[in-house]
Amino acid sequence: MSDPVVEAKRDAGIRAADMVKDGMVVGLGTGSTVFFAMERLGERIKSEGLHVLGVPTSNQTAMRAEEYGIPLTTLTQHPQLDLAIDGADQVDPKKRMIKGRGAAHLREKVVADAANQFVVVIDAGKEVAGLDAAVPIEVLPFAYGSVVRRLRELGGEPVMRNGVKKDGPVISDNGNYVIDCAFGAVADPAGLETAINAIPGVLGNGIFARMTEKTVVIVGGRK
Ligand code: 5RP
Repeated sequence: MSDPVVEAKRDAGIRAADMVKDGMVVGLGTGSTVFFAMERLGERIKSEGLHVLGVPTSNQTAMRAEEYGIPLTTLTQHPQLDLAIDGADQVDPKKRMIKGRGAAHLREKVVADAANQFVVVIDAGKEVAGLDAAVPIEVLPFAYGSVVRRLRELGGEPVMRNGVKKDGPVISDNGNYVIDCAFGAVADPAGLETAINAIPGVLGNGIFARMTEKTVVIVGGRK
C-alpha cells in the first residue's frame, strides 16, 4: 500500500519539475521531496530533450543528479538561477520557513537567494500556523562553545546534532558542525534569522524569512 505522505511528496516534486522550461538553470535542493522533482526532471531531459543545468546544494544531491542524468554547473558559471526547487521542514501562512533537517541549509539559502523564483515542495504535514521547530544552525567548529553561549543569551536551547549512531557530531558538506536550537514559538522569524546570523562563528541558519516574495509553495496532493 502506498504511503500518503510519500505520494504527496512525489506529487509536489513532479509539479515543481514541470515548471522547469527549456534552457533554464535550476537550483537543486536536498531531501526526499526534491529528489522526486529531480527524478522527474531527469525523465523530461530524456523524453523531451530538455536542456537544463542544475546547481546542487549538497554532495547527496550532486550524486542524485548524476543518477538521474541532470547536468550540473556552479554558481561561478551561473550566479543567477531561473528557479530553485527545495523542500522545507515547516512553512507558515506567510511562506516563512524552517529548513535544514538534512544539514544542507547553508548552501540551500545561497542557492535560493541566487534564484529568481524559489519553489518549495512540501506535504501538508509541513504547514504550520507559526514556526516553532528547533532552528538548524551551521557553526564553525572553532567557535562552537562561544556560539552556544550566545544562543543561550538569545533565549535558545542549543543541542549539537549528532550522527544517527550518536557517534559524534554531524559534519556538514562544508566541514562544519550543526546545532539545533529550540526557541519555542518564533514570534519574529526575520528578526531571529538576523540575530542568529549576527553571532560570530555562525555561518548560516535554517530560518528562511526574507525571500517570501519570490517563494511559491507547492503542497503535494492539493491543487
Ligand atoms: C535539507 C532540507 C530539506 O529540504 C528538508 O529537511 C525537507 O526534507 P524532506 O523533503 O525530505 O522532507 O532543508 O537541509
